[in-house]
Amino acid sequence: MLILGIESSCDDTAAAVLDDTVILANVLTSQDGIHTKFGGIVPELASRTHMKAIHPIVENALDKAGVQLSQIDLIAATRGPGLIGSLLVGYSYSKALSYVSNIPLIGVDHLAGHILSVFLDKAPPCFPYIALIVSGGTTSIFLAESYTSFKLLGRTRDDAAGEAFDKVAKLLDLPYPGGPQIAGNAEDGDPQYVHFPRAWLDDSSLDFSFSGLKTAVLNHVHQQRQHSELPLGDICASFQEAVVDVLSEKTIAAAKRHNIDTVVIGGGVSANRRLREVFYERCAANRLSFYAPNQRYCTDNAAMIALAGYHAFTHSGPTSLDEDVFSRSNLG
Ligand code: KG4
Repeated sequence: MLILGIESSCDDTAAAVLDDTVILANVLTSQDGIHTKFGGIVPELASRTHMKAIHPIVENALDKAGVQLSQIDLIAATRGPGLIGSLLVGYSYSKALSYVSNIPLIGVDHLAGHILSVFLDKAPPCFPYIALIVSGGTTSIFLAESYTSFKLLGRTRDDAAGEAFDKVAKLLDLPYPGGPQIAGNAEDGDPQYVHFPRAWLDDSSLDFSFSGLKTAVLNHVHQQRQHSELPLGDICASFQEAVVDVLSEKTIAAAKRHNIDTVVIGGGVSANRRLREVFYERCAANRLSFYAPNQRYCTDNAAMIALAGYHAFTHSGPTSLDEDVFSRSNLG
């Protein structure tokens, strides 16, 4: 089955062509250059830019795959969660393409794409597994029981971890997106320089909270700036360590509590080198198998949407063209 994947949930316009689960093409245009000068994503600009990019990127994917639209068996497009204006561009385009070409459409939950993105690699895990999905809009722990069954075990009560990376980067005058900037500066920094607070919440909770950490960094930076030059690398490394500590401990606690021996990470923040290193070490110490997707499948991409769409369509058929986009995930 040839699947055309389309993704436009946030600030990347992406398209992919898969033959069942094998990637034939996976292309993307990033809007980072447009939003950097505003220090974050401007939703109106994001949707306008998607409008310009969507058709060329789909043509590019078909071209790269050496496939005509008439050969496509299924269109899989992100329905949510995300920015409504951005979602509407990709999903309305996909509905129109489905209607005029008479190709079935499946609306995909973006988080299902991230949960399954490890299957785009050569040696994927077996079900069931615990998945930590950590990006600019999401920080959630799921129990993945199959390609189409996911139970939500915990999620952030305020900021997503990626959002915290972006906000802390902004207060340190680093450009958007902040995650890679903080990670780069942290490489030469001392993670023990400041012990920033970790929000463990109550013992039994698998939820997260990052707003207090963000405020702690803000207060520390304001105070230190009055007396001395800021040790940027040390602040970045200390902040990153606090985020990684909580993400890894809670994910491993979820695996133990549910008696699951495999842990998977996904989403933009899962590209973080320190996060992967700590997960690798702590999973090994707890005799858990650990899987992280290839770096190029961590951030938003259409290959994971096509893959999740393929499984959802095989399981329960197409989505009616009357259905619309959604801003909050229904998973779990
Ligand atoms: O999954 P994604 O591409 O988009 C959504 O938010 O859905 O994730 C983007 C987020 C941004 O917050 C970005 O700062 C963060 O992922 N990110 C990172 C790294 N690369 C991207 N955070 C920490 N370390 C990284 N290396």
